[in-house]
Amino acid sequence: MRIDKLLANMGFGTRKEVRQLLKNGAVRVNDQVIKKSNVHVNPENDQITCLGETVVYREFIYLMMNKKQGVLSATEDLREKTVIDLLSDKHRHFKPFPVGRLDKNTEGFLLISNNGKLAHNLLAPRKNVPKTYYAHVEGVVTEEDVKAFSAGVTLDDGYETKPGKLKVLKSDALSEIELTITEGKFHQVKRMFEAVGKKVVYLKRLSMGPLQLDESIPLGSYRELTEEELQLLEDLVED
Ligand code: URA
Repeated sequence: MRIDKLLANMGFGTRKEVRQLLKNGAVRVNDQVIKKSNVHVNPENDQITCLGETVVYREFIYLMMNKKQGVLSATEDLREKTVIDLLSDKHRHFKPFPVGRLDKNTEGFLLISNNGKLAHNLLAPRKNVPKTYYAHVEGVVTEEDVKAFSAGVTLDDGYETKPGKLKVLKSDALSEIELTITEGKFHQVKRMFEAVGKKVVYLKRLSMGPLQLDESIPLGSYRELTEEELQLLEDLVED
């Protein structure tokens, strides 16, 4: 890979700025100053520094966000703030995207990555990746609802959902529940409750596949996945 492309990809500046850094002698490859931008390097084996900082090359990033309400799960929007707008430049230059969507007023676990294969494997309907949500629901959620969800319910457009695992944490005028589903239809959790005559008034995603929301991440913030979490995704990211 060309040294100017690598450095630009890793956030050291635009191609033009990187060319200037090279000209200024700021870049060393295996302890030799490299001034030409068309020099090819092997990021796996070559020891590269820029302004004295070691350049660790990587192609993919994996971020866990605790999404806050009011931001869109999209890469860009003309009017509204997106989850990508909440990222630092250091992460945004990898051109990541949200892996799946949460509604504007839904909080919680959102994976953000630039690995298309991972996104495909987590989102493809035939993979049946479980997603668990916590919700506040207006109306008394009953054992009947648990049974109905375990059989699958009919949404407003006639779609029959796959079985969902509903756990009632508090059955009251304002109930608290956890629901695990393996699909991701538009507004699915809200529409499943509508199908049994109830209204979701607060929704938060707790997990997706093998990954659990790290509750210590403040709302609207994010962190990179840990090595352990990446291990859990291993089967989903490899070719
Ligand atoms: N189901 C919903 O209704 N909304 C979400 O954001 C996610 C699942």
